[in-house]
Amino acid sequence: MSASIHTAAETPKVEISGLHKFFGELHVLRGIDLIVPPGSVTVLIGPSGSGKSTLLRCI
Ligand SMILES: Nc1ncnc2c1ncn2[C@@H]1O[C@H](COP(=O)(O)OP(=O)(O)O)[C@@H](O)[C@H]1O
Ligand SMILES: [Mg+2]
Repeated sequence: MSASIHTAAETPKVEISGLHKFFGELHVLRGIDLIVPPGSVTVLIGPSGSGKSTLLRCI
């Protein structure tokens, strides 16, 4: 795992690196990287069943 360097003003509100989530055999999230900087707006889009809600639950 590598360390991330951020200035105080840029410290992410959310930072995810290499997230995997399985439901049994179903590999839903496959190495998710996400950085949400302070004051930003992030939109999560994708087809039904692609893992949007699962990602939000993990967060
Ligand atoms: N609690 C759960 N148990 C088993 N499978 C799940 C569960 N929640 C979601 N899934 C499956 O994970 C996949 C992603 O679902 P979901 O995160 O709800 O997608 P989205 O929100 O993008 O429509 C789908 O195949 C869904 O059937
Ligand atoms: Mg959903």
